[in-house]
Amino acid sequence: MNNSPRRVAVLGAGTVGAAAIRLLQRHAQLEVVAALVRDPAAPRDLGERPPRLTADPDEALEGADVVVELIGGVERATALMQRAAAAGARLVSANKAALAERWDVWGPWVAAGRLGFEAAVMAGTPVVSAVAGPLRGSRPLALHALLNGTCGYLIERMEAGEPFADALAEAQRRGYAEADPGLDVDGVDAAHKLTLLARLCALPELRWEQVRPHVRGIRRLTPEWLADLARRDLRARLVASLWSDGEAWRVAVRPLALPCDHALVRVGSGRNALLFRGDAVGEVLIAGAGAGGEATASAVVADVLDAVALRPGPAVPPRALAPPARSSAIGFPELERP
Ligand code: NAP
Ligand code: HSE
Repeated sequence: MNNSPRRVAVLGAGTVGAAAIRLLQRHAQLEVVAALVRDPAAPRDLGERPPRLTADPDEALEGADVVVELIGGVERATALMQRAAAAGARLVSANKAALAERWDVWGPWVAAGRLGFEAAVMAGTPVVSAVAGPLRGSRPLALHALLNGTCGYLIERMEAGEPFADALAEAQRRGYAEADPGLDVDGVDAAHKLTLLARLCALPELRWEQVRPHVRGIRRLTPEWLADLARRDLRARLVASLWSDGEAWRVAVRPLALPCDHALVRVGSGRNALLFRGDAVGEVLIAGAGAGGEATASAVVADVLDAVALRPGPAVPPRALAPPARSSAIGFPELERP
């Protein structure tokens, strides 16, 4: 048996990529051989055994056993992973946008158990593996979730009186926001993640175009509006939901006014959370960090370890589940209307 370290190529060495490269060095069975970046000369902290940096995809992908995609965006990331897949590599990605919007390409890799994507939803807080694993013993009735760390942080800071623009600048500095922060504040990033969770739970062929029209963000919230809600014991949260109206599954992302004692408020300001209801298991709450380099890299490393051990990635159900009898929408007022 070949005991030499498995060769890992990382596409992207930004907020998540650099943290993943540092954490992967803890594992003697892995060697991070190359990282693809736009600017190989830019200074970055890549640990004690930094990989070779290159702007040439051929050089980055050459001979890799596992390819980790952390450049973001949709088309370029998808094209690079197609090349990695064609070369026979196992695949890992945190890219919920590409997974949500190019399911035609990424879906077959998921079906083949060839892709790890725990980091794509709620960073290192394990929800992809929970929904695709133990929670499958129950029929899903509904899920409601806080899926965007940037919006959680923005609301937390605005509740403390900070203006939107200042809070967003700090979220970007902390590495929470997407390269285009409009994806966060307009609810699109949460909708990408909801699309993945809905596919894992119930709707394996759900198309991004079916989700996109039901998405609103938090751009219009202000510290004054949040203070007014607080006086009425309410809290604004950007909630992503999958539920049944009795005839069809429904999806939505929108800011809601939740009571202070609601489970999604009690998890604490700024945290991500998944509230899952299943017919047998009842209500399950999973909460933790939803963004940030280290928190996300934690899940990336776990997926790489699974890949080199040839453990299959998370699977979607073989066919769509029929919607259950009406499972209530979350039932609190929306804060923003089109
Ligand atoms: P980032 O800081 O912007 O890093 C992107 C990296 O990709 C950079 O190293 C950049 O190179 C490289 N890159 C971008 N376009 C490239 C291209 N065309 N060719 C070569 N290299 C390219 O992004 P990030 O925050 O790490 O996010 C990466 C991915 O993880 C995204 O899909 C994001 O949605 C996902 N994610 C992020 C978080 C988070 O908290 N940040 C959490 C979960 C998932 P340069 O450094 O040379 O510019
Ligand atoms: N921009 C994303 C967020 C990163 O704020 O949640 C984690 O997916």
